[in-house]
Order: sequence, then structure tokens, then C-alpha cells
Amino acid sequence: MTQGSSTVPRTAGDMLRMAREFLQKKGVEEWRLEAELLVAHALGLDRLRLFLALDRPVGGAEIDRARDVLVRRGRREPTAYIVGRREFYKRDFQVGKGVLVPRPETEHLVDRARELAAELLVARVSADGANRGGASSAGALWIADLGTGSGCIALTCALELPGARVTALDVSGAAILCARANAAALAPEGALAARVEFVEGDGLAELARLVCERGTRVDLLLSNPPYVAREDAATLAPEVKDYEPELALFAPAGDPDHWVRRLLDAARALVTPGGALLVELGAGQAPRAAELARARGFEPRFVRDLAGIDRVLEVRVAP
Ligand SMILES: C[S@@+](CC[C@H](N)C(=O)[O-])C[C@H]1O[C@@H](n2cnc3c(N)ncnc32)[C@H](O)[C@@H]1O
Repeated sequence: MTQGSSTVPRTAGDMLRMAREFLQKKGVEEWRLEAELLVAHALGLDRLRLFLALDRPVGGAEIDRARDVLVRRGRREPTAYIVGRREFYKRDFQVGKGVLVPRPETEHLVDRARELAAELLVARVSADGANRGGASSAGALWIADLGTGSGCIALTCALELPGARVTALDVSGAAILCARANAAALAPEGALAARVEFVEGDGLAELARLVCERGTRVDLLLSNPPYVAREDAATLAPEVKDYEPELALFAPAGDPDHWVRRLLDAARALVTPGGALLVELGAGQAPRAAELARARGFEPRFVRDLAGIDRVLEVRVAP
């Protein structure tokens, strides 16, 4: 897209066509969608407005910006880092280097958390009602998200479940900063401040401290922990391997089941009776997770993703 050459776009529509061709040639899988996102970003528009402005002439600075973002994408930098955001559960989450880009499969974990929250609230209202002779008031649910990253799980739960209190934990300072920024952007004027807290530090140690201090356990413990085995690093796409944070990708101690094991071991101490633990899994991890759960006296259930992979482990803590 160099000015002066025969391939200079004259309009936003030209620019979009050329971006599509470039990304397709570079082997970008979702070239159509990503060209739209990148061109819209270069022109300071959202995708819808881009389609309403295809005849709009483009200037030199815009062409330079488009060229810059396409070159970055051509070098396999994720589009989410280039445009600074990714959609999750129909909301825009800011992301940047040092923070995992939210994945669509993680939405299954949120779906299941919402179902369980509704179930737990109904149980609580009826128990409360029975205790008070019919005049019921359900206490707020307490949800923890261990390894919150951008805050996509924690904040979506807080926004979808207005009665819930949410604790978002991460050992990465960059992640906590990003999650806080997302809370401010998604619910302006501090609307979530009273219900969402952010805690930087080792997730299990910090949650154990809070549970002990408060004398109450969480209703739902949610986690999408790092679960890639180091030896699988070579199989990752360059977008992931070369750009996303190692701390968010790779399971500690060379053990892809590290977090499943630790979360199961901690579940009874941290989750209230009747509550649940939901953990996102990698492809092929479910049979091992089932065995680990059964060995600890839990009956595992799995939520399948759209690709048919058992993506989320669910265990309930016996009432
Ligand atoms: C796979 S990412 C998930 C991010 C986000 N929840 C999502 O679904 O997009 C895992 C996250 O766990 C965090 N993490 C790694 N070790 C941790 C620990 N010991 N305690 C708390 N968080 C940890 C990483 O910093 C990273 O943000």
C-alpha cells in the first residue's frame, strides 16, 4: 500500500480488498474477518461503520497506518494485540502484551457458571424462605476466578450476575492492571467497584487467605489455568508461541495437569458445600482430569465445546 505505486487504495473499500488479499496470501486463517478489524482500526472506525463507508476516500496517514498494522499481522502478531481488544461474550475486552487473548471456548465455562449460579441462588432462596417462614432474601453468591488475565471470566460473571461478588486473582501484575482497566471500561463510574475485587499474587494462597479471613467459602471457583505442556510449545501457532505470555500458557513443573490437581486438592477447603469448581481443560486432558477427580472422591462432569472437545471440568462439593 505504498503511495505512488499502482496499488495505492483510493477508498476504504479498496483498502479492505487489498488487506484481504494480503492476509489470505500470508496464510491468515480468518483473513476476511481480520482484514475488516484491521482496516477499521487503521481508519478509526468500527466494523459496521467501515461497511457504511466503503466509498470514503482514504488519505496518506491512513494508508500508512493500514500498512503498518498489516505488516505487523503479516509477522503473525495477533490481531487482538494490534487493535488492543478482543470480543468475549459480546463485550470488548482490552488486551495487550503480557495478557492472554480471551478465547471463544472459554465462553462455555461462563455459560456453565451462570447456570450453576442460577441453581445455587434458587436453592438459597428456598432454604432462606423456609428458614424465615416464607420471607426470603438470598445472600450474594461469591465467585472466584483464579488466573483472571484480562478479567474476561470474572467481569462477564459480574456483569451477567448482578447479585454476585467476584474475586479476580492473578499472579501477573500486567494481568491485574488489564482486568482493572476492563472493569472501569465495561462498567463506567465504578459500577462494579463494590462487587469485584482484584488480588495480585499466587491465586490459591491468596484465595485461602480471603476464605480464612472472611470465615466463608466461595460458591463457585472458576479457572482457566495455564495447561499447555512445554514439550507441546512447537505445535503452537506463532501468534501464540511468539506473542502470548508464557506464564499464561505453560503449566508449571512440566505437568499439564498441575492446576487440575491443585484445584481439586483445594476445592473442599475453598468451595462451600453445594458449590462447584469449574476448570478449563486442553484438548485430550479430560480423561486424566476425570481420573484425578475420582481419586479425590468427586464425580466429574464435562462441558463440551463446539469442536466436541470436553473443555470444562465440573465437580460439585458435596452438601
Ligand atoms: C490461560 S490464562 C487465562 C486468562 C483468562 N482467565 C482467560 O480465560 O482468558 C492463565 C492465567 O493464570 C495466571 N496465573 C499463572 N499462574 C498463576 C498463579 N500461581 N496464581 C494466579 N494466577 C496465575 C496467568 O498470569 C494468566 O493470566
